[in-house]
Amino acid sequence: TPRVFSGIQPSGGLTLGNYLGAIKRFVDMQDQGIETVYCMVDLHAITVWQDPEALRRQTRELAAGYIASGLDPEKSILFNQSQISAHAELGWIFNCVARMGWMQRMTQWKDKAGKNSQNASLGLFAYPSLMAADILLYHATHVPVGEDQKQHVELTRDIAAKFNHDYGVDFFPMPEPVIEGAATRVMSLRDGSKKMSKSDPSDASRINMTDDADAIAQKIRKAKTDPEALPSEVDGLEGRPEARNLVNIYAALSGQSVDQVLAEVGGQQFSAFKPKLSDLAVEKLSPISGEMARLMQAPDEIDAILRKGADRARAIAQPIMDRTLEIVGMVR
Ligand code: TYM
Repeated sequence: TPRVFSGIQPSGGLTLGNYLGAIKRFVDMQDQGIETVYCMVDLHAITVWQDPEALRRQTRELAAGYIASGLDPEKSILFNQSQISAHAELGWIFNCVARMGWMQRMTQWKDKAGKNSQNASLGLFAYPSLMAADILLYHATHVPVGEDQKQHVELTRDIAAKFNHDYGVDFFPMPEPVIEGAATRVMSLRDGSKKMSKSDPSDASRINMTDDADAIAQKIRKAKTDPEALPSEVDGLEGRPEARNLVNIYAALSGQSVDQVLAEVGGQQFSAFKPKLSDLAVEKLSPISGEMARLMQAPDEIDAILRKGADRARAIAQPIMDRTLEIVGMVR
């Protein structure tokens, strides 16, 4: 039976990239009636320094973002990772299965650790093996993510395969990354060659889910573009990363294909297209940010939802963890 698992780090505010690349698609999968498990991966967040109070707030804000975007705690299991110790436990076992060389090849590790990798935390290096534990602890079959996480899901498959092979079992399933839609890689508004990211020093480079209508409109107005009009066909976006990005965002927000969008706006100048895009973004995002702010008024209710979600998640995870320990040879 299919089971969906995905997670987001509570390491800062949510961006439009997180929303279009991940959360919006989490909601689609929930509404297809598949079993869905969505996590706030707080143990991942501390691979780089997090102020404790800020981490708690960001975890609640992420939960509020999930719920405000349409995830229903009755339909989906919503919880934060650290409430289930088996994530760390299985992560350790996978640290003993995965190879150093596999981790060294991860592009996110290379990007994040940079030249000063001797100073990166050991947790940052081992991060993909904890991510494999998140997914495999639920025997998840489908993992909706943005393009940047594809390599980590592939590594999860390698870890599952090596575990099954080394122990001579057919225990962990091979999860599939699900990377679909027009916005699998939302780019910076200031530089079409860089991913939109919560860690970019320039706030103008991203739309935050908590931005108000004025901020959204101003960021889109100032977004980098080229001087050409919009093309009527996809081929015309070749070599125009900023134009492509804005069209992709429009398509994802409006639920249309890129072809449909270009059929509508082809031939227009950015001076005409940008106001349309910002009206659409405000229309789709402001109800979400309003609801997030409302939910944040009652942090105790958010905590109660996460505790209940953790109880449901534990009921799936614990038997799988117990069986794993047995397979590995731990006295029970
Ligand atoms: P994170 O927290 O960096 O991002 C959360 C999700 O948002 C997607 N995303 C984007 N999609 C499109 N365009 C963008 N600019 C953009 N920025 C972020 C990411 O691809 C991701 O789907 N390692 C993961 C968290 C994680 C996880 C897991 C995911 C931990 N365990 C298990 C799936 C399954 C991460 O750092 O995502």
